[in-house]
Amino acid sequence: MSNRSLKKILVVYYSQSGQLGELVKNVCAPLEGRTDITLTYLAIEPEQDYPFPWPFLRFFNTFPETVYADTPRLKALALVDHSRFDLVILAYQVWFLSPSLPVSAFLKTTEAKTLLADTPVITLIGCRNMWLMAQEQMKQQLQQLGAHLIDNVVLTDAAHSAFTFISTPLWMLTGKRGPFLKGLVPAAGISAAELHASRRFGEAIARQLPSRPAGDNSPMLQGLGAVTVNENLISSEKIARRSFMIWGRLLRAIGKPASRPRQMVLLLYIAFLVTMILTIVPLSALLKKLLVPFTRKHIAAQKRYYAAPSGSELH
Ligand SMILES: Cc1cc2nc3c(=O)[nH]c(=O)nc-3n(C[C@H](O)[C@H](O)[C@H](O)COP(=O)(O)O)c2cc1C
Repeated sequence: MSNRSLKKILVVYYSQSGQLGELVKNVCAPLEGRTDITLTYLAIEPEQDYPFPWPFLRFFNTFPETVYADTPRLKALALVDHSRFDLVILAYQVWFLSPSLPVSAFLKTTEAKTLLADTPVITLIGCRNMWLMAQEQMKQQLQQLGAHLIDNVVLTDAAHSAFTFISTPLWMLTGKRGPFLKGLVPAAGISAAELHASRRFGEAIARQLPSRPAGDNSPMLQGLGAVTVNENLISSEKIARRSFMIWGRLLRAIGKPASRPRQMVLLLYIAFLVTMILTIVPLSALLKKLLVPFTRKHIAAQKRYYAAPSGSELH
């Protein structure tokens, strides 16, 4: 008959508000209770967890360490089974266009080296809408660990960027999702319908994984609309990342997060950042639209690149 055998999946995640936890739950629901698949969950826990909701200054003050992956100490990983897994689902959220600090910390552990080496990995991102640069960093990290990135699934906030620019920070800073301003700004976060629909990824894994030969590192989630690449955000993300790196280096040179001088310069940067987002992002989107006749091919190639390996097609 077939070469079906028991396959082991490890699911690694961290979540502050519970949103990424919900996403993991939905994706993994079709993989639960099967005789041909075992699921092991590993929650990442920093020794000193990050606050949620975030105090205003603490939120922004975390960006220099985040972009330079100056990671926190983690509690010992609560993992009994250290043997080889057939698939790792690595769920993460984006912080300042980088993988969040707890997830970056996990990638630096000795356990990650053994768990991920020569192992197929599916990244599962839940974020506002800017994930391209974070995934570029994730790809590099996974490559250094010898992992095989076979798929990437991204779910983003449901509302338009103009609204989530307001609602996501409000959610992070107050713990309340909204709607805000008497319903003018829709609630922050991934919609309940999208979360529920993410079960399709678990179903696709359940269909294919048990009969996949070892060493098959081809994607399993193509044709399911795993990601949507917003072409308007490509250059904005690149510019913002460069700015984070420059200001991040400066702020780190000034002092530790608690230092007063650093906090003063940080306030300056916040004003600069907000102005930049309100001007550069719409301007670069407008410029992109105007240049479309000349850049169509280049943009299509960029979109294909960022959408890989799972792609954005839905059939
Ligand atoms: C410090 C911080 C920075 C964030 N930066 C980004 C970002 O650059 N891009 C983005 O799309 N979302 C960003 N988000 C939103 C998160 O990716 C995520 O959607 C939100 O924190 C909910 O995740 P949770 O499951 O951990 O609660 C940020 C959130 C935090 C707390």
